[in-house]
Amino acid sequence: MRLTIFGSGYVGLVTGACMAEMGNHVICVDIDQAKIDRLNAGEVPIYEPGLDDYIHRNQEAGRLEFTSDIKKGVDHGLFQFIAVGTPPDEDGSADLQHVLAVANSIGSNMDEYRIIVNKSTVPVGTADKVKARIQAALEERRVAHEFDVVSNPEFLKEGAAINDFLKPDRIVLGTDNPRTTELLRALYEPFNRSRDRVINMDIRSAELTKYAANAMLATKISFMNELANIAEQLGADIENVRIGIGSDPRIGHQFIYPGAGYGGSCFPKDVRALAKSAADSGYEAKLMEAVEAVNFRQKRRLFGKISDYFGGDLQGKTIAVWGLSFKPNTDDMREASSRVLMESLWEAGANVRAYDPAGMEETGRLYPDQKGLELCESSQEALKGADALAIVTEWQEFRSPDFKLIKQELASSVVFDGRNLYDPVVMTANGLGYFAIGRDNAPSTSNGNPGRRKTDGTDTGTAG
Ligand SMILES: NC(=O)c1ccc[n+]([C@@H]2O[C@H](COP(=O)([O-])OP(=O)(O)OC[C@H]3O[C@@H](n4cnc5c(N)ncnc54)[C@H](O)[C@@H]3O)[C@@H](O)[C@H]2O)c1
Repeated sequence: MRLTIFGSGYVGLVTGACMAEMGNHVICVDIDQAKIDRLNAGEVPIYEPGLDDYIHRNQEAGRLEFTSDIKKGVDHGLFQFIAVGTPPDEDGSADLQHVLAVANSIGSNMDEYRIIVNKSTVPVGTADKVKARIQAALEERRVAHEFDVVSNPEFLKEGAAINDFLKPDRIVLGTDNPRTTELLRALYEPFNRSRDRVINMDIRSAELTKYAANAMLATKISFMNELANIAEQLGADIENVRIGIGSDPRIGHQFIYPGAGYGGSCFPKDVRALAKSAADSGYEAKLMEAVEAVNFRQKRRLFGKISDYFGGDLQGKTIAVWGLSFKPNTDDMREASSRVLMESLWEAGANVRAYDPAGMEETGRLYPDQKGLELCESSQEALKGADALAIVTEWQEFRSPDFKLIKQELASSVVFDGRNLYDPVVMTANGLGYFAIGRDNAPSTSNGNPGRRKTDGTDTGTAG
């Protein structure tokens, strides 16, 4: 089948590469010429495990093309996917300008029937706006062509995106007629083999399903972070509490990890946009507002612990920071907790020696010429001359570090762990001061660190 995908970011590239892998002919359109040039030169502009192979293989086979030529894109695909960004507006609502710009491009160029498939995360009612925009563009041209608009929200997780796309938990199709449902079913057939994953519903419910999923996951994280803070107040160990509640199948072990708050391009903006949609409709979404408020506070928690430790005086101190991306296995730094920590440290007059396995380039791009920032080539390098170590992202390589080396390098021999990666007993045995999330005041007889979080990015308290 022939597909066009507008937007060559995380969602567009993964969708394009996986659809091409199944034998479809895909054209990806982006207005960012530099990005298109890089893709055509064989470069993949984002870090996503496995994506390079999928893109290169399908590019070579002639099934995957990249262009900034809008007309070429609209002429090509029966399916016109929208996978552009929906960043937060100043008032928290989703900014639809890119989505509507694509709708305009399609209406201004289409010469025959098209199915517009919206994969961007958009508020309820956006499909109607897309429809109206296309219709207006057609009327301006004084032509009449049939088209359908479908909501097909994307649930992939950065860091595991290829696998998520190839083996989805569900394929949500929000449609308003059986013909488009059948055509989309056929398109998704290769991803729907062992059992039927298609969940067909009305368009508005499909749009809300995506927000509901992200809001639920964000709520789990904020709930655990709230409990972690309560545990600290009361002298309990949140890691024991986590195991204690996760064993109830109604609660489950997944996604209940306390940490330094969630970030990324989805949870923060989606929780805010859902609250705003609710408010605009006359309903006060108190839970969503609390989820956001708890997360805001949690992202400042690690800084608070560091500041307290040094008696509120961080002037001239140097903190090694391990983990900069918003979660492991991505280079995405959007709303990353590390940014809140580093910016607070700089404001307090401290220096940062930062290391991340994938996010160094992005950090350099975000903070060019930043005073007090040293980008280091390895985790060991970051420790050199530092007073303390802070861990913000649970990359695999931070799981079993050389504690003796950490002790040797750090002037103050203290570790602030924003992801509860280590056993407090082991840290003490190695002569290291250790502060984590929700366990700092617990008796040291706690049973180490039962059932550590996964560090492959699929089940994190960092989200996305
Ligand atoms: N990143 C994720 O993990 C994820 C997961 C599920 C859903 N989503 C949603 O999918 C959407 C896209 O997210 P993303 O992370 O891939 O975004 P992104 O910012 O990585 O990429 C968006 C791309 O769209 C391009 N673009 C903007 N306007 C355009 C236009 N008019 N025509 C063509 N291209 C245009 C931009 O240049 C950019 O390359 C968002 O709504 C997001 O909420 C994201």
